[in-house]
Amino acid sequence: MPGGPAASGPGIGAAAPKTNIVGIAMVAFAAFGGVLYGYDTGTISGIIAMDDWLRTFGQPTAVTATNPSGFFLSTPNQSLVVSILSAGTFFGALFGAPTADIIGRRTGIIASCSVFCLGIALQTGASNWATFIVGRFFAGFGVGLISTLIPMYQSECSPKWIRGAVVSGYQWAITIGILLAAVINNATKDRQNHSAWRIPISIQFVWAFILFVGMFWLPETPRWLIKQGRRDDAARSLSRLTQLPIDDPEVQLELEDIAAALKEEEEIGESSYLDCFKFTHNKIFLRTMSGILIQAWQQLTGINFIFYYGTTFFQNSGIKNPFLVSVATNIVNVFMTLPGMWGVERFGRRYLLIYGAAVMCICEYLVAIIGVTISVENQSGQKALIALVCIYIAAFASTWGPIAWVITGEIFPLNIRAKAMSLSVASNWLWNWAIAFATPYLVNVGPGDAGLGVKVFFIWGSTCLGCVIFTYFCIPETKGLSLEQIDILYENSTPLTSVKYRRELIAQNVHVSNLKGGGAGEDEKDVNEKV
Ligand code: BGC
Repeated sequence: MPGGPAASGPGIGAAAPKTNIVGIAMVAFAAFGGVLYGYDTGTISGIIAMDDWLRTFGQPTAVTATNPSGFFLSTPNQSLVVSILSAGTFFGALFGAPTADIIGRRTGIIASCSVFCLGIALQTGASNWATFIVGRFFAGFGVGLISTLIPMYQSECSPKWIRGAVVSGYQWAITIGILLAAVINNATKDRQNHSAWRIPISIQFVWAFILFVGMFWLPETPRWLIKQGRRDDAARSLSRLTQLPIDDPEVQLELEDIAAALKEEEEIGESSYLDCFKFTHNKIFLRTMSGILIQAWQQLTGINFIFYYGTTFFQNSGIKNPFLVSVATNIVNVFMTLPGMWGVERFGRRYLLIYGAAVMCICEYLVAIIGVTISVENQSGQKALIALVCIYIAAFASTWGPIAWVITGEIFPLNIRAKAMSLSVASNWLWNWAIAFATPYLVNVGPGDAGLGVKVFFIWGSTCLGCVIFTYFCIPETKGLSLEQIDILYENSTPLTSVKYRRELIAQNVHVSNLKGGGAGEDEKDVNEKV
């Protein structure tokens, strides 16, 4: 059954000392999977513009000043090579649920690295179009698996007091991956042989190797091990994560919590995908839809418009060095994720999502209004636009970027967790693809195009307003609660009343095993004192 008691109880390592740096570092390491994600999505736009790549995979055309290679990529082929990754990621994300349940979270991540490497090998060695496309699909499939499995692994292994920050580390790694792709593409783009694109593609073996080897060293999640009946292994895993001896009462207590929750889960019975959409006392429908929609809204903030099309867009708006703009936006994205990692535990998820979306909304409307008012030659006006775009990215990076993943990792109950999570991540990839696909038609000026240009920011501004409204009505405050307490929160409050109810939950030491009269429930106050 998906999800699991490791995702419940007081939270793995909740009773361990806050100085448990080694345990936290182990779970934080898994975030490295984000580098594969960010790099792979970030690299293709630069690669398909390289001369040698076009000579190898493009079609011949007249040599012109704007096209010195004499080769070009037709629009359908351009669309195919970019979007086939999204197709792979979409199916990979869905496949993440059975993978996590059948072979385990950790082994699933290791297996994903192998699938990813197959895709990279095919692309690196490709000398014809079909091989390259198949390689893109497999690499995407690996990334899709990873994007479901990593936040699941991290949420199931993290202590509750730092779970948000640990899962945000995954987003930080994504941003670093995107930045690395931009830098490495730029370093090889002028080479006039296959190394121009083979270097940036094959370097991904290094990222996969690091994750692969690191995950061999990390433990499987204790919950999955208990589910498999491997209690001794679960104890060893927990002892490594908490850095406490196996026979320590804290370790034994948590194991009992996990086993008790598993028992309860088994009483509920195996859940199907249909169960993810049932109207139940603990608001399963709302939770599944919230996961699916928060990932959709994250994409609808328009962030990938900047990362996928920013360079071309700024070039058309008269900016002299669009490459520098793309480096600047990437650097803001990386560094502004750090305050987000801190803020998610300091201010909570709900507030940051609302304020972040409000700032993005204002910036995007301003970009649209200034953009339609000033001329392309107005350099200071164009600089103001770039500054606003950077503020917008800073707001995304410190709120919606990480928190969408944090929420997806923590709001699902035991019995539907892997399934609902994989549906949510698949929604991220579906919208990622849809926006990437539709944007050129919206922005470009040409037959059949909407020709919106900078006015497209009116759309992104409005979708950010949608993000504010969605969060206000659908996302409860879950900061500092164990995943099991989040279940109680959903059962007894609405997103609007959740802020107050969460405080009461913590103040009154409410714990699921107290409520259900059994198990080895640990007193919340005790836990807080120990952690
Ligand atoms: C999003 C990606 C986006 C990235 C930017 C991620 O959370 O899912 O689509 O490119 O953030 O940092």
